[in-house]
Amino acid sequence: MSIRWKHLIVLAILAPLLGLAFGWSGLMSVRASTGHWAVTDWFLHWVMRNSVSARAVTTEKAPPLDDLALIPGAAGHFETGCAICHGSPAQGRPASVMAMLPPPPDLKTVVPEWSDGELFEIVKHGVRFTGMPAWPAQSRDDEVWSMVAFLKKLPEMNAEDYIKASGLHGIGHSGEVSPLPITCESCHAESKLNDGSHIPRLAGQSELYLLNALKSYTAKERPSGIMQVAVGTLPVESLPELAAYYAGQAPAVRQKTAQDPALIEKGRVLAESGRVSDKVPACLSCHDRAGANPAYPKLSGQNAAYLRQQLALFQAGTRGGSSYGHLMIDAAKGLAPEDIDALSAYFSQR
Ligand code: HEC
Ligand code: HEC
Ligand code: HEC
Repeated sequence: MSIRWKHLIVLAILAPLLGLAFGWSGLMSVRASTGHWAVTDWFLHWVMRNSVSARAVTTEKAPPLDDLALIPGAAGHFETGCAICHGSPAQGRPASVMAMLPPPPDLKTVVPEWSDGELFEIVKHGVRFTGMPAWPAQSRDDEVWSMVAFLKKLPEMNAEDYIKASGLHGIGHSGEVSPLPITCESCHAESKLNDGSHIPRLAGQSELYLLNALKSYTAKERPSGIMQVAVGTLPVESLPELAAYYAGQAPAVRQKTAQDPALIEKGRVLAESGRVSDKVPACLSCHDRAGANPAYPKLSGQNAAYLRQQLALFQAGTRGGSSYGHLMIDAAKGLAPEDIDALSAYFSQR
């Protein structure tokens, strides 16, 4: 019996040493070029599927994924952050990434195999040892869900649908849709935005506010995977130019969308007078008044869906922003969901 114990102890010491020696010897191949054995490939995917499914159980319930406000930002981000590896309906996967191990799959074919919660888990956290990155802003589950909503639309999209959705389109001379590289305008062009979009209008916004916003994205003080990727590679010197460019743009004349007049009236009263019982301040004491601090953004004419989303983020404590951001956290605290709807309707139509 005692000999058996001794054998076990020797084995317990030797096994890791042998493992270390094998690692040290250089015999273990890390070449991507030779691929995995079929059994290793099967095993790794089996582990990945089990891990994703197990964690997806605790994923919070998905918001309504058929909300069209979710698509434009996610589609544009797909082009800048995902198509480089996974290809898109407009362009195949580049030859360079096909030599990765594992190669990134064509998402059109694999997306239907996953549930919404599993896609959320993959897009939010990425997949270790494969090159599949995590979402750059971990606190923005709402952005991750917007990407899931987009992925679910991907299998039915043809090249033209995709080019339009991602804002990549220029219209050629003969009226055909032609792809262009993605720029700020792909997402922010006044002509493409409507009240139902989560992408904000920038035209005519306060220049100082725009500059503060751009700086807070680059400093990661305002979390947004979409905007962090969009401004991540810009030289800092270009930020003032971009802020000046959008501040100087004339806002497009817009059609007023049909909104419930009683809702707008409720928003007006709250914006003008606040509500003392819930410590809600009058929004118009800071926003959209003559002589206001230029660090305070204009809200009038902003998209209702965007206003709702940002107020919800302030309430959740995840909006971040410039050094003035704390003022808004206090201002948004006492708002009920119906107040947020009313204020967003009011300011978007103002
Ligand atoms: C640097 C390359 C790279 C980028 C960029 C990338 N991915 Fe991936 N992705 C991969 C690889 C490699 C896999 C395969 C993982 C595996 O086989 O386990 C993968 C897997 C996936 C899967 C699971 C598919 C399946 O069935 O295995 C989804 C969904 C996905 N990626 C979505 C995205 C989205 C959305 C983005 C952009 C936000 C993105 N990926 C960006 C490389 C990338
Ligand atoms: C892929 C789409 C996309 C691209 C490209 C993009 N943006 Fe954005 N932008 C967004 C979204 C979505 C938001 C809202 C993010 C949030 O929730 O904070 C945003 C927010 C902003 C804001 C904050 C506005 C406000 O009212 O607080 C500024 C400023 C801005 N973008 C400027 C730019 C500039 C300049 C560029 C080009 C360098 C650019 N964006 C490129 C989608 C995009
Ligand atoms: C004490 C001044 C103050 C009051 C009162 C105030 N705000 Fe703000 N608000 C700000 C500042 C400052 C910012 C910009 C924060 C930043 O730079 O990140 C802001 C940002 C916002 C934004 C984000 C805009 C964008 O483009 O992203 C919304 C939406 C907003 N406020 C709505 C409201 C509403 C609705 C009320 C009334 C309930 C209100 N605010 C009351 C100062 C105020």
